[in-house]
Amino acid sequence: MTSNLQQSFKNIFNTAVTPRTFFAPGRINLIGEHTDYNGGHVFPASISFGTYALGAKREDQQFRFYSMNFPDKGIIECDLSNLNYDPSHDWANYPKGMILTLMEAGYDISHGADILFYGNIPNGAGLSSSASIELVTGVLFEGLFEKNIDRIEMVRLGQKVENEYIGVNSGIMDQFAVGMGKQYHAILLNCDTLDYKYAPVDLNNHVIMIMNTNKQRTLAGSKYNERRSECEIALKDLQKKLPIHSLGELTTEEFENNKHLITDEINQKRAKHAVYENARTIEALNQLKQGKVENFGTLMNESHISLRDDYEVTGLELDTIVEAAWQQDGVLGARMTGAGFGGCAIAIVEKEKVEIFKENVNAIYKGKVGYDATFYPATIGDGAKRLDKGELI
Ligand code: GLA
Repeated sequence: MTSNLQQSFKNIFNTAVTPRTFFAPGRINLIGEHTDYNGGHVFPASISFGTYALGAKREDQQFRFYSMNFPDKGIIECDLSNLNYDPSHDWANYPKGMILTLMEAGYDISHGADILFYGNIPNGAGLSSSASIELVTGVLFEGLFEKNIDRIEMVRLGQKVENEYIGVNSGIMDQFAVGMGKQYHAILLNCDTLDYKYAPVDLNNHVIMIMNTNKQRTLAGSKYNERRSECEIALKDLQKKLPIHSLGELTTEEFENNKHLITDEINQKRAKHAVYENARTIEALNQLKQGKVENFGTLMNESHISLRDDYEVTGLELDTIVEAAWQQDGVLGARMTGAGFGGCAIAIVEKEKVEIFKENVNAIYKGKVGYDATFYPATIGDGAKRLDKGELI
């Protein structure tokens, strides 16, 4: 595939130059949903689907971007001196935003580049295609322009692109998982301190199946920002008495003893999810470490129920697919993953039962929702990196 993409690069940009190739994955989140912007823990892993970027430095200051996923948009061009957001540049605002943000952070460059992108993350599936394109641009920038960028700084700058350049008020989880991922491991990340540890994902005879509801979700248009502000108001109410700066600092007991301080009933439910989900996430790592995959699965189920009933970010499609998965033989747990409101769920399924699982879940899903779901096994791969010469993709 790399050689095909190299040929496409040469044809599209009409050049004989051989580009360098970089890759950044997408991610799934095993547990710890809507906890990142609440200063809690998350437990994501980077997957083998992702975004490839092939790039070559230019002599002048032009940038030319092309995506194999959006051929109708053609080559999108801009000058190094004007990388500001431009709605007509569509998807190319992501790499533009990353380059501008890196430059503003002091990584100055004086040349442009030709860059071709190809991504195999299903569109709008909630598997972090935007963090993937931000981070692949980050490693490409680092490689092409010979910079040395601390990886966690790159992760933070990716989040800054999302928050300030694109305008989505997301937390740090996606960029962290995409930038810091490690093959066969998930990352337990404390989003308050950015302390993290890797944990091998060893599920005995089970695999993680990604279940795509094929209901696209768009983060900017969703109720994501609304949930954030509901949690912020709940926190302010609690701060009248408690010296805390995030919901992630509370134990479930402390929450129960003080929840009356949250005046609005809905905000109280949102905060309850954030606090209990954080506790579940820490517990999930303990269970996984002890090889208690069944208990891990139960925590996943509880996470989904809380996201459905207290945080209210699931909806018909995610609930149907997850509840169908729960009924199947050989399933230890299932839950939505990512922001919610559509997109993907994950299930831990016994290897032997995967085929019948897909068939049964899809039958229930299609019967209720009216169209098919798509299933893929999740392979946990590395975070953003340069692909070595000759590495096959
Ligand atoms: C999206 C955001 C993340 C996180 C999740 C929910 O993926 O980008 O920061 O908040 O939703 O856990």
